Amino acid sequence: MLRIHFNAPTRSKGVRCCPMNALRVLLSREQIASRVAEMGKQITADSSGESVILVGVLKGAAIFLSDLVRTMNVDSTFEFIAVASYGTPAPDNRRAWDSTGVVRLAKDVDQPLRGKNVVLVEDILDTGLTLTFLKRLLLGHEPKTLRVAVLLDKPSRRKLAISADYVGFTIPDEFVVGYGMDYAERYRNLPDICVLPEVSPS
Ligand code: PRP
Repeated sequence: MLRIHFNAPTRSKGVRCCPMNALRVLLSREQIASRVAEMGKQITADSSGESVILVGVLKGAAIFLSDLVRTMNVDSTFEFIAVASYGTPAPDNRRAWDSTGVVRLAKDVDQPLRGKNVVLVEDILDTGLTLTFLKRLLLGHEPKTLRVAVLLDKPSRRKLAISADYVGFTIPDEFVVGYGMDYAERYRNLPDICVLPEVSPS
């Protein structure tokens, strides 16, 4: 049996992880569930009864997409894509690149999107680099419509002018983990969205 002990500080790839009791809940599981249900209702209403393909971005959006699609009352299928990013190490060490980074597609969709109603699903909109890349990529598939749903938006971090059609929560510039979001691959399984103090700007 795999046991994960969060009470002792751990290291992953040389990164010191925070004990569970040092995490501060920013958005509780109840708040998330309630807002995700509202988003699902809104996407349903905007879909006017037409089928929708959700496209989630691995890995962070996996849990959000799983919950969102179950709140939607419209014929839906879903896909996952993955991106790889290269560039200068980001100061917050969250990912191995910053606004000078290059984004590349690592896994494409498995079905044609041409003429379909597509909703791109992201866990967080931060600098906007990833979303800018992905919107351009998906528009190249010539979907009938392309909408973007993000659970979290951090507008203060934006490097490129881009926004989402559906935003769950607008949050300050704090490093968040949980509900799919990680630090060095840890914490994705937390049901709440929490602030990781050692990484957040002071
Ligand atoms: C996160 C998130 C977005 C991206 C947003 O992915 O899922 O894809 O960052 O950041 P940006 O607006 O600055 O481009 P991450 O690189 O953390 O990978 P993960 O989803 O596998 O955790």
